[in-house]
Amino acid sequence: MPNDAALFPRNFKKAYPLAVSGEGCWITAADGRKYLDAAGQAAVINIGHGVGSVAKAMAEQASQLAFAHSSQFHTAAAEKLGSRLLALAPEVMRRGGRVYFCSGGSEANETAIKLARQYFIERKQPERFRVVSRRQSYHGSTLGAMAMSGNMARREPYHPLLPEWGHIDPCFCLHCPLGLHFPECNLACGEELEALLRDDREKSVAAFIFEPVVGATLGAAAPPDGYVQRIGEICRQHDVLLIADEVMTGMGRTGKPFAVDHWNVEPDMITFGKGAASGYAPLGGVIVGPRVVEAFERGSGTFQHGFTYQNHPVSMAAGNAVLDVLDDQKLFARVTDASRNLFAALGPLKQHSHVGDVRGLGLLAGIEFVKDKATRTPFPREENIAGKIFQAAMDQGVLTYPTQGCVDGVNGDHVLLAPPFIITAEECNISARAIAVAMEKVFFAT
Ligand SMILES: Cc1ncc(COP(=O)(O)O)c(C=O)c1O
Repeated sequence: MPNDAALFPRNFKKAYPLAVSGEGCWITAADGRKYLDAAGQAAVINIGHGVGSVAKAMAEQASQLAFAHSSQFHTAAAEKLGSRLLALAPEVMRRGGRVYFCSGGSEANETAIKLARQYFIERKQPERFRVVSRRQSYHGSTLGAMAMSGNMARREPYHPLLPEWGHIDPCFCLHCPLGLHFPECNLACGEELEALLRDDREKSVAAFIFEPVVGATLGAAAPPDGYVQRIGEICRQHDVLLIADEVMTGMGRTGKPFAVDHWNVEPDMITFGKGAASGYAPLGGVIVGPRVVEAFERGSGTFQHGFTYQNHPVSMAAGNAVLDVLDDQKLFARVTDASRNLFAALGPLKQHSHVGDVRGLGLLAGIEFVKDKATRTPFPREENIAGKIFQAAMDQGVLTYPTQGCVDGVNGDHVLLAPPFIITAEECNISARAIAVAMEKVFFAT
């Protein structure tokens, strides 16, 4: 379908259907085609499309007060949403924690970088500024967030613009970058953080940021038990802040309010976005733990940072209305059942000669494609297998989220599924069937 020429598109070589409406797990395009949104767009649509109560709450807020600048006013909607998010956060954050709202995941992670930096200024340790992260990770597209990200393809063009604060290896047992095996490895990838912090003689590291389950870059790769706990321990020992990037995994996506809850680890900050307003409005933020809050309260009292649209009343209304839907329909609890259906539907794909793995947690699932199943050898990047599977599934009306580079940053193809929490068993089956057919077309069509 030809597009009008006003928009700067993501890809000039691609045509984009016009999306006109959404309902439940489905998006309808202008030509009448319906698409099953099995990736929740990009792990955004937690409650489903077209929920009237959310649209109504946003309209009411917009007609009552569309905007008030956060340097001059707070609003009841923002206070309410902040309290509700704190109530969902790990226990230590509930007492004395605060929420900093912004408009998305990248802004949330930029905010976390600056919070970490200023926290140490408040504590009279101005030498600490680096935020260490992991290779094979994604924290956002703004320059600070990109500097932390380890997604090679997304970083590549901007290399000269990005400071290097230090990256350690990811925890990805299937393609262990250290060539080791769990549990004999004794979590050697986590011990890289210990070594880095031990060697940091200038004490320049302020924080460590990680995705508890790596979303886009590794395709829903969860660490083995013990890893997240060990990372938390190392950060404590070295007085370094622990930041969990839960932009993709937070707000119930993995079956708990936040993914760190699976391992009972209490970070100093949790960044969130995507599902927080389920796509109804731009919304992200940072849940800031009491230790960081106190340093600001007792110190200068002022955070040298801000966005015009932080605490936006209409986004706050959307966030509250989305939480109402999650509560009323008990959707957090539903993730566990829906996850069972999803993995039951995807399970048979594991037998396919070009499927290397089906993995994930809750309603975040990754399907990895391999050239050689026995050796888990990936396809060469140029073959763009993930992109081809995406397109072939889309041709059958099912939307997935394709990425390349999961094996070594360059090669490795997977598609991610992150459907709305309301997905039915039948819709899980439709998604799996479409991927199976897509594989037949991509791998075996002559
Ligand atoms: C883990 C993670 N962090 C941060 C971001 C950036 O969020 P946004 O695109 O809303 O800026 C993303 C987006 O995909 C993400 O998956």
